[in-house]
This record gives sequence, structure tokens and C-alpha cells, in this order.
Amino acid sequence: MKTHQDLINEGVAGRTVLVRSDLNVPLKDGVITDDGRIRASVPTIKALSEAGAKVVVMAHLGRPKGGPSAEFSLAPAATRLGELLGTEVALFATPAERSEIADGGVAMLENVRFDARETSKNDDERAELARELSAMAPEGAFVSDGFGVVHRKQASVYDIALDLPAYAGGLVLAEVEVLRRLTTTPDRPYAVVLGGSKVSDKLAVIEALLPKVDALLVGGGMCFTFLAAQGLGVGSSLLEADRIDTCRALLETGKIVLPTDVVVADAFAADARTDTVPADEIPAGWMGLDIGPASVAAFADVLGTAKTVFWNGPMGVFEMAPFAEGTRGIAEAIIAGSGYSVVGGGDSAAAVRALGLAEDGFSHISTGGGASLEYLEGKHLPGIAVLEGP
Ligand code: 3PG
Repeated sequence: MKTHQDLINEGVAGRTVLVRSDLNVPLKDGVITDDGRIRASVPTIKALSEAGAKVVVMAHLGRPKGGPSAEFSLAPAATRLGELLGTEVALFATPAERSEIADGGVAMLENVRFDARETSKNDDERAELARELSAMAPEGAFVSDGFGVVHRKQASVYDIALDLPAYAGGLVLAEVEVLRRLTTTPDRPYAVVLGGSKVSDKLAVIEALLPKVDALLVGGGMCFTFLAAQGLGVGSSLLEADRIDTCRALLETGKIVLPTDVVVADAFAADARTDTVPADEIPAGWMGLDIGPASVAAFADVLGTAKTVFWNGPMGVFEMAPFAEGTRGIAEAIIAGSGYSVVGGGDSAAAVRALGLAEDGFSHISTGGGASLEYLEGKHLPGIAVLEGP
């Protein structure tokens, strides 16, 4: 796989380089609430710009349906990127409307998903858009640096790499290196913490991880289907009844550790009545919204001796203060441990920052939630495979 450093060594001054970044950041009322992905995208863009390239950043925001809209505009991301780079990043609507970029300058194409061909299942449609994108860079190159989106076979991720000389950016390289370490040579004991709401989303990764790990700690909404698989009542907690049998079979491996106590609430609300109860005494009509302190302590014991830790998914509804302590406790236990620790992207990375925890307490915080899980599942990632060549 050629890297953006190879491209810089070849000479990029005055050449247009298209960089696919993942700037899919959470926004509230038009304000970015977590700029982690933008900050992670800066080094590659900066290195190319400092080498004199005319950099065009391509990215998506959310999953817009039916053309351009203010709601899904990348304008806030362009502004933030400009602040971090210390230069203005002009936003242009379509490849045809790209304005002149000075050598070393950076501009950004508006949300590439405003064009439905980006995510089309039809190869010809995607290829057509890829040709329009690559026409912005005659004699140029493509740098793939949006790790969070490499599991998508999309025009600006996959097809464009067939049209232009393609290179992996520094972020993609770093992320792949970390995940390779987790899948090939993890120091033992290796503990994985999984949370998040839907167990159905995580079954494939659990099946792939179980043979490789020493302990798999489960919290979040997904733990209730496992508790139900043990024959426990879960009140009105999140439950995927059609997955109970699968969860029961996975429990037979003896490696899955479940919460022993739960914070329950009488409503899904920050001001609901709450209580902490043993996991086998969840009252009817109440829902579990976080793991309890005894579970945090038990999980922390495992994490304290682990030499490798991978964590994906919050332990509770951390966005509401009464249900944030489980996630905080687990994050603090990982930070306190001395093992190699990786936070899978998405909600767990956002939780680390939202709870004000020290980011440098972890060995690596991934920018890719779905992408890192698919890598660990052993799935084919189109955006990586295309860089490796035929
Ligand atoms: C993400 O948020 O995980 C990435 O940006 C990919 O977004 P997508 O799931 O909408 O493809």
C-alpha cells in the first residue's frame, strides 16, 4: 500500500490531491459537539498542503436523502478545519464549481452524499461520479484518509481509487496498524468491553472475538438480551427476544462477563425515578439504563490485569447524568490500567470526550466505529482492499 508520504516524496507541489476524510461529526443546532474526527484528519491534510499540494477535501455528513440541505451541510466542518489548519477552507457545492486553489491551499467539496450516486448500489452510477470527482485532479492523486468510512463501497472511497493513483493517508495507516495488532499479536490477557444498545449489531463481532480474547465484558442496552438468556427477568429494558438463543449459545463459551447489578429507571428520562438493583431483581415495568457500581468494580478487576483492552460502546445512557457512571467507571478503569488500550470509535470515543476524560489515557482512540468493528470481524473492507491493489 503506497502512503501519502510516498506521494509527498514523489513531489506534489502544484498538483491537485483529493483527500477523502471522515468529517462525520455530531452537530447540535449547527454546532459541532465533538470535533475528534476533524482533529484526526488534520495531519495528513497539513502534510500535503505544506508540501505545496492543492488539497481538495471530500467528506460526508450524516445520511442525507434527496439532494443538498442546510441540515447536512459540511459548512461547520469546513470552518473548524480552517481554524485547526490556520487557513481558510473554502466550501464549494459540486466538482464543476471548484474555485481556484493556490499551491498549499485547502478547499472542501460539500457533502459528497448530496449526490445520490455516491452511495449507489449500481457500479456504473458510482463510477460516473468517481470520474467527475477525479476530473478535479488531472495529473493529481487520491489520498484515502477517512478510516471511519473504509467499510463503505462508495464513489469517493472506493471507485475513485480505481481512477487516480491512490495512496493511504496517515490516519488510515495508523488505524489499520492498531487493529492489526489487536487481531494478530495481542498481549494477554486480552479483554474486550462491548456496550451500546443493540445486541444484533454486535453478534458478528462477538463471534469473531470470542476465540481470540480471554474475557468479553458486556454492558449497555445489549446486556439485557444476555441476562434474559440466563433466564432472568429484565423488566422493560431493551430486549431483542429473537436473539436470546444466540446469546445463550455464546454464554456457553464461559468468556462472557455480565453485569451483576443495574441502574434502573421508571422512564427513559434524565429526571426519572432511579434505583440500583441486583441484575436478577429488575422490577417489572422498570428499565435498566446503566450498569451498577458492583459491575463496574468487577469489570475494573478484569481490566486492571489485562495487557490488551478493546472497548466499543457505552455501558449506559451516558448522555443523561444519572446513567453515565457505568461508562465513566469503565473508562477510568481502562485509563488506570497499564495495558495497551484501544477505544473503538463512534459513541465510546464521543463518551470519552463528553465525560471530560483524558484522551491520552488510552493508547489509541479510533475514529471508525463501524469500520473498526468490521475489521475485527475479519470482513473485507473495500476502501482498504482497493488501496492494496489487485
Ligand atoms: C460513521 O459515522 O461511522 C462513518 O462516518 C460512516 O458513516 P455511515 O455509517 O453513514 O456510512
